[in-house]
Amino acid sequence: MSPCSLPAHRALLSAFSLLLLPLSLSLLEVPHIARFFGTKTRYEEVNRALLLDPLWVNRSVLRPPPGESCSPVHLTALIRHGSRFPTVKNIQRIRRLSELVRRAGGAEGGEATGGGPRDMLQEIWSWENWYTEDMDGQLVDKGRQDLRLLAQRLQRLLPSLLSEENSFSLKSSSKHRCVSSMEAFQEGLQGGAVGRFSHSVDDELLRFFERCRGYVEGVEKNRSALVEVKRFKEGGEMEGVQGRVALKLGLPPHLLTPDLVEAAFFLCSYELSIRSLNSPWCFLFTEEDARVLEYKSDLKQFWKRFHGHVISGLSSCPLFHHVFRTLDKAGRPRRATDAPPAPTASVLLGHAETLLPLLSLLGLYRDPQPPTADNYQQQHGRSFRSSQIVPYAANLLFVLFDCQRGPRLQLLLNETPVRFPGLPGDDAPLYRDVRAVYRPLLDGCDSARECEGRGGPRAQHRTLIGCRFSGSKI
Ligand SMILES: *[C@@H]1O[C@H](CO)[C@@H](O)[C@H](O)[C@H]1NC(C)=O
Ligand SMILES: *[C@@H]1O[C@H](CO)[C@@H](O)[C@H](O)[C@H]1NC(C)=O
Repeated sequence: MSPCSLPAHRALLSAFSLLLLPLSLSLLEVPHIARFFGTKTRYEEVNRALLLDPLWVNRSVLRPPPGESCSPVHLTALIRHGSRFPTVKNIQRIRRLSELVRRAGGAEGGEATGGGPRDMLQEIWSWENWYTEDMDGQLVDKGRQDLRLLAQRLQRLLPSLLSEENSFSLKSSSKHRCVSSMEAFQEGLQGGAVGRFSHSVDDELLRFFERCRGYVEGVEKNRSALVEVKRFKEGGEMEGVQGRVALKLGLPPHLLTPDLVEAAFFLCSYELSIRSLNSPWCFLFTEEDARVLEYKSDLKQFWKRFHGHVISGLSSCPLFHHVFRTLDKAGRPRRATDAPPAPTASVLLGHAETLLPLLSLLGLYRDPQPPTADNYQQQHGRSFRSSQIVPYAANLLFVLFDCQRGPRLQLLLNETPVRFPGLPGDDAPLYRDVRAVYRPLLDGCDSARECEGRGGPRAQHRTLIGCRFSGSKI
């Protein structure tokens, strides 16, 4: 990415905002299933106003009590990297799918037997696979743009914390897509200038999940930890999707495995998030099919990264403590004699795997029943939807205010207010009340003990997190 491309990009954006007609046309071209792509969902799907104006900011999301005079003093932002290429595993599946479909199209002699429009099938048959293994999970241009625009929106939302005079703490996961995302975020902050701020890599904070033995052995490497996902994959709902998609493609259903069905679904998502295309692959799925596939992804995220296993949340203890230590420091009254002021913003760039365990530890998105292979029908109203929670460029914002009655803390997910589970009546509760809710974690949540499985406090936390917030719904 050249340092000069930002102003050009801005000019393009404002040209776009003047030309509403082509934009509303492109709105119509968004695939009908774009909201159901789980962690492969575009950020625009959770914030549709951005399709019209990518720099649109809703200032009323900041909600300290109207009667109290408050000013923001600190932002901690935990951000997921932007849109990226598929990883090798999915690139290989896409290749197998496109070869299978191409052979079938050839064998059919171009005869469409399915129920769908013929020209869509022709387009699928003649689709050229352009994904190569060296792309493996790298950030794409659209992903850089996701982060530049997010930085600019946050700057508009909190100008006193994110202007160029402020001091920032910037930390990223070591993965290429995260480092590139952090660079793009910095470009956004600096209005296109390069090199004013520097960031550091910190995997202890942002890739805690691979360092937590209890998590790696108990969940990551444990086949039975994801048994619900496996059962759903082999169950009736998925079989239904498989049959309908095979019929549209004119393929015998047994040739189309659940993995290949999912590859076609992801292909629709990638062509949208990388190239802004409504690809012919999207036409293979009804909205109901997409909901089933979304549920399959949610099951995986839930059992692998979320409330499914308490250790997932506990593995994020180092990040939890880091966030609260930063907020403690930022909330402390400052004296003129104090050494360098605390940074007004702390930006942490990681993965969906970084955000989900922390959200789990904080007790968010806990539904009355966990999602399983058997209760798809009862889960339509669930609050845990990875498409809404961890799309590309997902962000969890902790905004600390200085108010008359003391510091207050507000939480936002993807630029929308979210309430703390223990404090459902207040968008921006007093910081000391937030600390009281999380007191047992603030005093414990020792990753050495939790992750190495030493001693008994683990059982105690299980009770704390499992019961205290049970049934609370955000
Ligand atoms: C702006 O945010 C407020 C608070 O979350 C919300 O009630 C309102 O609907 C939002 N406005 C728009 C236009 O989305
Ligand atoms: C693997 O997961 C299952 C189901 O969650 C659990 O009962 C079992 O204890 C786990 N095994 C290990 C080695 O942690």
